[in-house]
Order: sequence, then C-alpha cells, then structure tokens
Amino acid sequence: ISRASSQRPGDHTGRRHDMLSEKSRPIIEATLPIIAERINDITPDFYRRMFAARPDLMDGMFSRSSQLEGTQPRALAGSIAVFASYIVEHPDSYPDEVLSRVAHKHASLGLKEEEYPTVYKYLFEAIAANLGDLATPEIVEAWTEVYWLMGNALIKLEKGLYASQANDVMFAPFKVVDRKETGENVVVLTFEPADETPMTESKGGQYISIVVPARDGLRQARQYTLLPSEKNQRRIGVKLDPNGEMTSILHELKIGDVVEISNPYGDLTLEGFGNPEAPLYLFSAGIGTTPMLSFLSELIEKGSQRPVTVVHADRRLDTWPLREELTELVNKLPNARLISFIEGEGGDYTGRVDVSKLDVPANANVYLCGPLPFMQGVRSALVEAGVPGKNINYEIFGPDQWMLHDQAREA
Ligand code: FAD
Ligand code: HEM
Repeated sequence: ISRASSQRPGDHTGRRHDMLSEKSRPIIEATLPIIAERINDITPDFYRRMFAARPDLMDGMFSRSSQLEGTQPRALAGSIAVFASYIVEHPDSYPDEVLSRVAHKHASLGLKEEEYPTVYKYLFEAIAANLGDLATPEIVEAWTEVYWLMGNALIKLEKGLYASQANDVMFAPFKVVDRKETGENVVVLTFEPADETPMTESKGGQYISIVVPARDGLRQARQYTLLPSEKNQRRIGVKLDPNGEMTSILHELKIGDVVEISNPYGDLTLEGFGNPEAPLYLFSAGIGTTPMLSFLSELIEKGSQRPVTVVHADRRLDTWPLREELTELVNKLPNARLISFIEGEGGDYTGRVDVSKLDVPANANVYLCGPLPFMQGVRSALVEAGVPGKNINYEIFGPDQWMLHDQAREA
C-alpha cells in the first residue's frame, strides 16, 4: 500500500485515514494478546446477545449456518483484532484489501450504517463480561476507538459501493427464466428482472447475494458468482451442498419462481490486479470454475490478446461443471489454453494439480478458486516455483479464514 500514491486530493494532512490516537496506541499494544486469546470466547457470547435482542438480523442478513459452523463469528470479531494489530504495526495505513473484501460482502447483504452501533453495543457487552475487572474504562475507550476506525472505514467504502449502483435498492425481484443441470449436482439458473429496477452491469468475478426463504420460512442470503450472461440477465451455477441449508432449495426453483437478488459486488476482478499484460493463470477446482468463465468472457469482449492458461481440476470429466462452456470460451480467445487434471480418466493429466508440469512464469498473475486445501496447495507450489504471493489472488466461497488472507498478503 503506497502512501504517496494513495493520498486523497484535498487532504491537508496528507493522510488517507483517521489514525489511532497516541493515547490508545500503547493500550491496544498491551491488550492485543489478551483480546486475541479471548476473542473465540467473546464472539459466541456477542452473537448470542445480539440475536436475542435483534432476531430480525437473522432474517435475510446473517447466515444461520455460518453461525452454527462458527466461521462467520470468527471472521467478524477476529477481524477487529487483526485490524488493530495491523494499524499498530503500520500507523499510516489500513489493510485496504481486507476492508474492501468485507465492505463488498456487507454491501451485497444490504448492510446499513445504522447497524454499526448495534454490533458495537453487543460486542462490547460481551467484551466487558469476558474481561471482568480487566476491562478498565481506558481499555474500553481504546478498543472503542479501534472499532470505530474500522467501522467508519467500512461505512465509507459501503456508501461508495451503494452510490456506484444503477439503482438505490438493496435487493430487487428476479424471476427464473431458465435452468440447466451440469456436472454433478450443479444447476445453472438464469434470472431476469421481475420489476422495473435498472440493473448494474457486473464485472467478471463479481457475485450477487440471493435471498430465499429457508424451509421454516426464515429468509437466508447466500452469495453466487455471476456467470457470463445477457446484459438483462443474472446467471449463476449452484453446487448442491448436502449438509447445507439453501442449495437444496435453490435446486428446486422452477421457471417463473421469483427470488430477491442484490446488485453485483466483489473485488476479485481482473482490473486493478497486477500487470494487465502479464500471463494470466486461472486455477479452479469443481464449482470454483464460475469466476473463471466470467473472466474469460470479459477478455473475449475486450478482444484481449493476453496469454491465458486455464487449469481445472475435477474428479471425473462428467463431474466437471460447465466444461463445454469453458472449452468454448477458451477456444474463442486467441492466446488461451485449457489444461485439466482429472482424478479419473480423460484429462490432460491424471490426478491432482501438479504445478511443476505447468512451467508457470514468475511474472504470472494468478487467480485461484476452489476448496481451501486445493487453493492452499496450489498457492504454496506456485510460491515455491517463484511466483510472488502478492500476484496470487483467490476467492473463498465462504467467510474468509482471515489468517490465510493475511499470510497470503505478506508472502
Ligand atoms: P449452508 O447452509 O451455508 O452450509 C454450509 C456448510 O455449513 C455446510 O456444508 C455445513 O458444513 C455447515 N452447516 C450447515 N448447517 C449446519 C449446522 N446446523 N450445524 C453445523 N454446521 C452446519 N457456491 C456455488 O455453488 N457457486 C458459486 O458460484 C458460488 N460463489 C460464491 C461466491 C462467494 C463470494 C461466496 C462467499 C460464496 C460462493 N458460493 C458459491 C458458496 C455459496 O454462497 C454457499 O455458501 C453454498 O452454496 C452453500 O450454501 P448452503 O446454504 O447449501 O449451505
Ligand atoms: C461479514 C467484519 C459490522 C453483518 C463480515 C466479515 C467480516 C466482518 C470480517 C466476513 C467477510 C468475509 O466473508 O470474508 C465486520 C466488522 C464490523 C462489522 C469489523 C464493524 C466494525 C457489521 C454490522 C453488521 C454486519 C454492523 C450488521 C448488523 C455482517 C454479515 C456478514 C458479515 C451479515 C456476512 C456473514 C454471513 O453470511 O453470516 N463482517 N463487520 N457486520 N458482516 Fe460484518
């Protein structure tokens, strides 16, 4: 993050961000270890308190499964501890990429500024309960400052994201106009607007939140990467999760059914990442292919001459979702090739992705999407092969395991 290049015009201090006060800095430094150690006890209590007072936040906003699984509580509260240690170590900057990811996720859920005091209230009640006598007024004040530095940075980003949309609604009704099965337990759904709300054009790699009632009627939001589509459509590929709550419901949608869909969000796009001329490597496994299709479609539309290598891993050829569509897209790009690693027969290679077979150049720009162990494996192999960690971008189909993101950025 370059300070010089990121100064806002008109900011006379030359600073982009509000900074942690000199008074709070030593207190945060001294209490970071104890907060980090206790955060996993604090967060379940925070959510218990918040949902007891505000059960409506579970209706169409928070994912019930993320709560049960514990991934989301760790992500939200853990991120505040990570943010604090970042601004203590880098007083002049914020972890921008990380804030951006969260702001896009929040905006896709229609999060409003007014809810920030809600999270503050119940989070700090839980902190006070956990720390007991240790929670002196000075400590609470210093952490309150950190909460609002992060909260205000997110609010600002979210406002900017809302303002860049073609409409001012958080969700609009869309009806199913087409559905097709592909691969194993993947359904591709195409939607068109069910009212007059203008649609924001999406960028390759972006996603929407889709809200549908769960079996007991509680509305639940989930994110799906947008597939290439006509401008007046939204198209997604949904992999059935046998342990999940919403995918079986999405799989039952029929032509004519109406759902609520957000504007497109997500910062894992081609633009703004690395050198736009550098050889592009897209690694996916299973349903992780979805963002790659949109990247390819965008490159085709732009008449790109960029060298692109698409590497896909799957169990069998017939479990590979959207294989024909991907192959067609690759064939339309002048300098693109497709390499498959299939555990069964019929791929270019048999077995799991072996980066050593690919001769990835050190200046490659890489995108990864698939299960976490797949991404971690490919990423370490690439780093070992000389590709700098900062050139490797990835999408996680769930709440970010924060530490992975942080380590990835530092490599
Ligand atoms: P959930 O109900 O969310 O459950 C997920 C997991 O939580 C389950 O597997 C299970 O392990 C656990 N769980 C559920 N209930 C419980 C419980 N009671 N107790 C304990 N654990 C539980 N998916 C796609 O298919 N295609 C895409 O293109 C796509 N793009 C995405 C893009 C982004 C940016 C993100 C964040 C996600 C994307 N996803 C995509 C994933 C998608 O949003 C959903 O997470 C996924 O479809 C599973 O939804 P679900 O409701 O069936 O599962
Ligand atoms: C998701 C941080 C405020 C609602 C997240 C994530 C983080 C985070 C790190 C995970 C992002 C990912 O998917 O990788 C924060 C911080 C906040 C804050 C630091 C305050 C400073 C809020 C508020 C609300 C909220 C005020 C609403 C009341 C959500 C929801 C999700 C989310 C609904 C998606 C999780 C899910 O699907 O259940 N937030 N958040 N957040 N946040 Fe926040």
